[in-house]
Amino acid sequence: MLFKLENVSQVAFEDMNQVHREELIMVNDIYHYLTTSAVHDHQIIEKMLQEFAFHLRDHFLFEEDMMRETNCPIYSCHESEHIRVQKIMFQIFKEYAVSKNINLLKFYFEFEFKSWIENHILTMDTVTGAFLKDKGIISDS
Ligand SMILES: [Fe+2]
Ligand SMILES: [Fe+2]
Repeated sequence: MLFKLENVSQVAFEDMNQVHREELIMVNDIYHYLTTSAVHDHQIIEKMLQEFAFHLRDHFLFEEDMMRETNCPIYSCHESEHIRVQKIMFQIFKEYAVSKNINLLKFYFEFEFKSWIENHILTMDTVTGAFLKDKGIISDS
């Protein structure tokens, strides 16, 4: 298991936490398949990567929409970071589509995505979640 969900940092906006949980469960499933299956079906992997990419896109759009609607001061740098990390993801997934190199994906999730999302939740998402809560958009935490 790549992510222990109970150890993932929580932000003040519960809907964001829910999206993060869904995404990390998805990554755990992909990582489990990559690391435990004796034989890898590349069509299955491509499908999982596509679902993950869609989830990541929706996750980011959700946060960006909320920030835009509330004039969140870190909107611009937070959005730029989302765009930057999606470009890396698409680059890696394109390389995988050509090479079918499982180790490339393992490396991506272990050493690129994991540290990135943990740090991102602790920093930009935490700031954004607190801002949204301050705006009174949400009632729980
Ligand atoms: Fe997020
Ligand atoms: Fe974010």
